[in-house]
Amino acid sequence: MYNAFFGFKESPFNLSPDPAFLYRSHVHEEALANLIYGVQTRKGFIVLTGEVGTGKTTLLECLRDFLDTQFIEFAFVFNSRITSDQFFEMIAYDLDLRCNRNSKTEVLFALNHLLLQQASENRTTVLIVDESHNLEWEVLEEIRLLGNLENRRGKLIQIILAGQPELDRKLDAPNLRQLKQRIVLRCNLQPFREDETVAYVNFRLEKAGMHEQTVFPVDLLLEVHARSQGIPRVINAVCDNLLLTTFALEQQVATIAMLDEVCRDMRLEWPGRRTRGERGRYPSEHYDSIVTRGD
Ligand SMILES: Nc1ncnc2c1ncn2[C@@H]1O[C@H](COP(=O)(O)OP(=O)(O)O)[C@@H](O)[C@H]1O
Ligand SMILES: [Mg+2]
Repeated sequence: MYNAFFGFKESPFNLSPDPAFLYRSHVHEEALANLIYGVQTRKGFIVLTGEVGTGKTTLLECLRDFLDTQFIEFAFVFNSRITSDQFFEMIAYDLDLRCNRNSKTEVLFALNHLLLQQASENRTTVLIVDESHNLEWEVLEEIRLLGNLENRRGKLIQIILAGQPELDRKLDAPNLRQLKQRIVLRCNLQPFREDETVAYVNFRLEKAGMHEQTVFPVDLLLEVHARSQGIPRVINAVCDNLLLTTFALEQQVATIAMLDEVCRDMRLEWPGRRTRGERGRYPSEHYDSIVTRGD
């Protein structure tokens, strides 16, 4: 909507997990390196945790790109509220297994065949499960059993479980002790630090076609950091709304007053937020039709 006004080639704060927009913060860089290392060295189980909106799915998309370039076979289970039958069906579909995909036995046979064939060519196979904290115990147990398959050179299938911090608590359960013991690599995504939030916003604006941006002054970005608590998804939503407001008011620079209005509209809560006597610096009727947008 505001792209032409600011001269963007594409929307800078899209909420999709697009690897082309990956900002390599220290934590993200290390996590991605760990995922790739874990797969290449056939470590077996790898767990990626992080709060909502910290970039887990984005990193998995980056990993998917890497696997594609290496011609490594993988299955990507993105919907974790599934039964074990659906789980096997999804794997069979992704790995293009030629069998009756509704029969667990047939899928397991075909999968085993594929894994051994890949292993004989010195290749591995990867299973990625996003939102793993939602998995049913029964499905987790199936995943554990898949993780048992190995030959002399290592695990036949590399399994990446990504999820919110509850995943760690789930894996602590006594019935999953065996699975937990097999996790060889753990990565945890942290929110951005203050300097990273500033660099992140500048990076996305640059990527979208705005060089050396002047629309968000540094003091405003520090405030965006404080209010978003460094969570990328929240930063994106706030910055998107800020650009929209700036555009609607035909301004070139976003202000703290605009940020106040945007946060109010988003009902954003953050530590130290003033709850009483908070006011925008100009009439709110400007905003009513502007910032109330769903994503
Ligand atoms: N390192 C990063 N670089 C670029 N964008 C990121 C990064 N981390 C998160 N994002 C963005 O933040 C939003 C939420 O990321 P996502 O991967 O969906 O989080 P999660 O899966 O942890 O909930 C997406 O718009 C994504 O593009
Ligand atoms: Mg996600």
